[in-house]
Amino acid sequence: MQPVGFRYAIMWKGRFQTETSDLVQLYGESISYDWRLYQYDVQGSIAHAKALFAAGLISTKEKQTITRGLKEILKEIESGEFQFKTSLEDIHMNIESALTEKIGDAGARLHTARSRNDQVALDTRLYCRAEISEVLKQISSMQKALINTAERYQDAVVPGYTHLQRGQPVLFAHHLLAYVEMLERDADRLRDAYKRVNVMPLGSGALAGSTIVLDRKLIARELDFPAITQNSMDAVSDRDYVAELIFDLTLCGIHLSRLSEDVILWASAEFDFVELSDAHTTGSSLMPQKKNPDVAELTRGKTGRLIGDLVSILTTIKGLPMTYNRDLQEDKEPLFDAFDTMKAALAVFAQMIAAMKIKTSNTRAAASDPFLLATDLADYLVLKKVPFRQAHEIMGQLTAYSLKHNKPFAGLTLDEYRQVSEAFEKDVYQVLDIDTALKARKGIGAPSPSNVSRQLKRWKRKL
Ligand code: ARG
Repeated sequence: MQPVGFRYAIMWKGRFQTETSDLVQLYGESISYDWRLYQYDVQGSIAHAKALFAAGLISTKEKQTITRGLKEILKEIESGEFQFKTSLEDIHMNIESALTEKIGDAGARLHTARSRNDQVALDTRLYCRAEISEVLKQISSMQKALINTAERYQDAVVPGYTHLQRGQPVLFAHHLLAYVEMLERDADRLRDAYKRVNVMPLGSGALAGSTIVLDRKLIARELDFPAITQNSMDAVSDRDYVAELIFDLTLCGIHLSRLSEDVILWASAEFDFVELSDAHTTGSSLMPQKKNPDVAELTRGKTGRLIGDLVSILTTIKGLPMTYNRDLQEDKEPLFDAFDTMKAALAVFAQMIAAMKIKTSNTRAAASDPFLLATDLADYLVLKKVPFRQAHEIMGQLTAYSLKHNKPFAGLTLDEYRQVSEAFEKDVYQVLDIDTALKARKGIGAPSPSNVSRQLKRWKRKL
């Protein structure tokens, strides 16, 4: 038997007689991806060392040595010098082992009253906090890009669609601002989830705390957590905050995916509403004329990954008995992937939208389709005391007549109008102007130019 003390390299080897098989090491390692938690692991361990010192379990000198050692390791990792070892499974054991190699016994005291189960819960929460803040910044940049483009083209009119059929005229800015609203709710959801992430789990131990009681409030203060988990079993075993965050990110991705679909349609020759910049499009290796909206397509496509991440975490959690199970190691890849995917998508999308040109004469031509004002004419009849259902029927007949005789509403004579309904009078022609139609839509939330400009101002103040 080797004397205790030479066996720091692997932390749980005491009861084992033979080595872990190479295949199992490869199967079980998480260092290939959880190395990304290194700064949170170091931060958590420094706070933990303070609590050990406060409890009289390590000396001032040991606390200082541990802290210095951890900071050195942080530097080594950041400069790429650090040697990660698969045999040490994960980031927690890699760092602890390196620390003990560096400073000896003091390092071996660090894991007192702590388990990797509460340690990984802490690291993951610290990571989530930082990433949420990043994504929030990026959502805000994306909103700004939409708002700037909306402002640059404040007068651009475009058909609004339902069923992808032209419905009623709107301002292009109103269409873009719809996405600003969606993104704001995405940000709200993340800010709300942040509250549940921002709870300190260290001290929960493997599942039942420890007989060595540390000052958890001190650790929480050190790491700037306003709250502490209240049930050790819950704290090491639930990942509801991970699932919730992946959902929030996925929904944000789905919003971008819908915008992607709009952009792809707008950039097609059939719509021809926008021109994307060269910097945000790609060509075809075969067809020389092509300019493809790949950024939008990829963003729409990556939504599939996000949904996969969400299904993956939910499925991982669903059958777990209390408390920690190694299955939970599978939370990290979907979590990292969801954050990475959304950060990349938001960054590139914000650039693309900021550089997008709207072909305002084309959007206006499309919005000048006379049928877009059929509802306005029905409203006109209502103001002439015709019940709306009758007005709808009258306008249906007039549309059929207009199609049959190939005459737009503005080209019909008053006689022709009056053949369908006596309620039409000379002033009917005033309705048939797209700018009048837009100005009339001045209820709260509707796209009149003055409303839209108020909304633009509101958003600029807010952001
Ligand atoms: N790498 C593990 C994870 O990510 C850390 C916790 C391992 N705990 C254990 N008892 N094996 O979940």
